[in-house]
Amino acid sequence: MIEQVKGTQNIYQNDSEKYLHVRKCFFDVFNKSGYSYIQTPHLEHSELFEKSIGENSEIVSKQMYQFNDKGGRTLVLRPEGTSSIVRYHAQNQKELTNQYSYFGQMFRYENPQKNRYREFTQGGVEIIGNLDAFSDFQVINDSIRFLNSLNLTFTLEINTIGSIDDRELYSKELYTYFKTHENDLSDESREKLDLNTLRILDSNNSLDSNVIKHAPVISNFINDISFQKYESLKSLLNNSNIKFKENTRLVRGLDYYNDLTFEFINNDGVVLGGGGRYDRLAEILNIGTFNGVGVAFGIERIMNIIDIKNKSPKVYIIGTDIDKIAQLCILLDKNDIDYSKPPRLSKINSQFKSAKNLGAKYVVNTDEDTIKDLENNTSVEFNVEVLIEN
Ligand code: HAM
Repeated sequence: MIEQVKGTQNIYQNDSEKYLHVRKCFFDVFNKSGYSYIQTPHLEHSELFEKSIGENSEIVSKQMYQFNDKGGRTLVLRPEGTSSIVRYHAQNQKELTNQYSYFGQMFRYENPQKNRYREFTQGGVEIIGNLDAFSDFQVINDSIRFLNSLNLTFTLEINTIGSIDDRELYSKELYTYFKTHENDLSDESREKLDLNTLRILDSNNSLDSNVIKHAPVISNFINDISFQKYESLKSLLNNSNIKFKENTRLVRGLDYYNDLTFEFINNDGVVLGGGGRYDRLAEILNIGTFNGVGVAFGIERIMNIIDIKNKSPKVYIIGTDIDKIAQLCILLDKNDIDYSKPPRLSKINSQFKSAKNLGAKYVVNTDEDTIKDLENNTSVEFNVEVLIEN
């Protein structure tokens, strides 16, 4: 048998119940409060992410599914959604300020393990155009509404990384510091020293923790305007009783951020989602000068921590006469009643057994024109009102 590609998943049965539930909660929160769904291509030119996420970032340098198509173009399977939406905004909505939502597969060549897949789903939102403090606030506040709708427990961590110039200065200082402690760093972090200094701060390797603990912090490099923006966001969060933890090491793995960065982390330290401001991304891509702020959630990571029971069908149709079954389907559709039916016309007894195994409440037998209530073990003559009323 041809094996399934490593790091990919089949989402079925209990997992698909979870997937559909998370997706429903996502759209119930975001699309019912101003965000409009956008679907961008899964295929993109490599250049888009090289410029936006940064050539030296882990995602671009190591994790992109990159290939040449038959026309000789260098394409990638998208590793994230933000860059494509910014490009869309520049092409079609440049003069406006829009709230976008998206939900779909992303691809990163990672070391596959629980919560880290090569093909995974992100649900995210972006506000793009001319932004203010309310834009940042609502992305965080709406994210919390989404996570709360799933009854999740999490911590919101926030940070400001200042302007891109501030970050460059900080990176230099950090480089000098790590260079002097090079011998105390893990191999993995030593590799990042020259091109990816900031990412050393993300290391979970215990060898690095002491060096990182004493490293210079970004807060000392933040310009006044960025600092004030950060202070006013914190006041807005406090005014709304939103709990947060400041984490000065939260620099995130994508180069396009400035000022605000944030993440939602569960009790086991799993990052459920993250985002921030990206006011220079359009400029970096040379497509405009508008601002952006957004967040993306790892949908499988959320599925891995929620508990959801398989839904049983309320009504299960059985019978051996296709015409009668088809007529009943029309009647139930008209009355907006959900139902299940056997995949093929097996013996009536085994159809009945399937209904029982699925936990159906009512079995409608089209051969006998009866409704059997499996919960109360009663049987009545068929009458659609019975199914409507209960
Ligand atoms: P990111 O932090 O790279 O940000 O990804 C967002 C979320 O996607 C992560 O917090 C995690 O939950 C999930 N995720 C990432 N990689 C994997 C993986 N290999 N397997 C499973 N889940 C994963 C972004 O992608 C930005 N575009 C977020 C953003 C939107 N910033 C502004 N707007």
